[in-house]
Amino acid sequence: ERIIHAALLGAGTVGSGVYKLVKDLEEEIISKTGARLVVDKILVRDTTKAREGIPSELLIDRWDEILNDPQIEIVIEVMGGIRPALTWLEEALRAGKQVVTANKDLLAEYGEHLFDAAEAGKCDLHFEAAVAGAIPIIRPLRQSLVASELTEVMGIVNGTTNYILTRMTEDGMGYEEALALATKLGYAESDPTADVEGYDAGRKVAIMASIAFNSNVTFSQVYTEGITHITAEDIRYAKEFGYVIKLIGMTRLTEGGVEVKVHPMLLPEQHPLSTVRDSFNAVFIHGEACDDAMFMGRGAGQLPTASAVMGDVIDVMRNILHHSCGKIGYGCYRNLPVKSAED
Ligand code: NAP
Ligand code: HSE
Repeated sequence: ERIIHAALLGAGTVGSGVYKLVKDLEEEIISKTGARLVVDKILVRDTTKAREGIPSELLIDRWDEILNDPQIEIVIEVMGGIRPALTWLEEALRAGKQVVTANKDLLAEYGEHLFDAAEAGKCDLHFEAAVAGAIPIIRPLRQSLVASELTEVMGIVNGTTNYILTRMTEDGMGYEEALALATKLGYAESDPTADVEGYDAGRKVAIMASIAFNSNVTFSQVYTEGITHITAEDIRYAKEFGYVIKLIGMTRLTEGGVEVKVHPMLLPEQHPLSTVRDSFNAVFIHGEACDDAMFMGRGAGQLPTASAVMGDVIDVMRNILHHSCGKIGYGCYRNLPVKSAED
């Protein structure tokens, strides 16, 4: 029996969901790939902390034990943050290990570094879970819609803020209480500032813009405005006039370059995005050839995110077995200007 060994970096909300799916889908993975997936090591900060469903003997706190383990072919990064994740993933890729990550902070700032490392190591680098949770959006942008001459990508790409706005609109709940619930449900980042200030959505829009327009848009180029200043009164007024408030991320190809922004918007109640509630996300795409396309689903949370991670892992396993890792390539970026927030 062929066994593919993997290491998991992180055993928090997403990491424990990934481990659960690895166990639950054990036989299905064999039937879908022809190989068994075994997670040998799980890297965390605190190896003494009890973690439901995770065998304590798998926990380690040293990256070199994974990097220098020749058996480990796949590194699954679900710990978040820029450093040490950037260093470790670059090292993994350059050492010929395949990488699956959910880390949008890293991709939105240092995507090019990771793509270079993947090219150098002739490795796969997959990140479907980094944008819009369970919704397949990276693959459609990179593959299925690559010939569609895309001009616009927009939508709701942060589950936490959509959950908060939904609770405030439908239940009259206060902002703080709704945020606490979103955190408890595993939607929010470890520091929810990124969610509520629009940074998380901005990172996702930067990633989508880079792929959709074969460009290199980084988070610092995205205009972001969050929902912290939205009051119960704003929501009440909007409702009275038949509108809802949603945090919208958008990127467009214009004559002056790529436009990338995130801000709250008033949408008529009958607008398709107005019906996207709770932690759901939705992404609209327009292309000259494909016309309009829309994707909707759970944008955050343990199992929805873990399902996207595991979809990537299974893809990577197939590539390992067919000796086709690193074959897709990451495109040569066009040097498109990005319109500044003031334009
Ligand atoms: P989390 O619950 O805070 O878990 C982070 C895990 O990573 C913890 O187990 C932590 O170890 C470990 N970790 C963090 N820094 C580490 C370091 N320097 N060395 C070793 N271990 C380290 O975070 P999460 O919600 O699972 O999110 C993980 C990643 O997925 C992030 O990039 C996030 O943006 C992304 N993501 C999350 C969601 C979601 O719905 N939550 C959705 C899509 C993408 P300890 O447990 O010992 O502290
Ligand atoms: N904190 C993020 C959100 C997790 O609420 O959308 C999914 O990326």
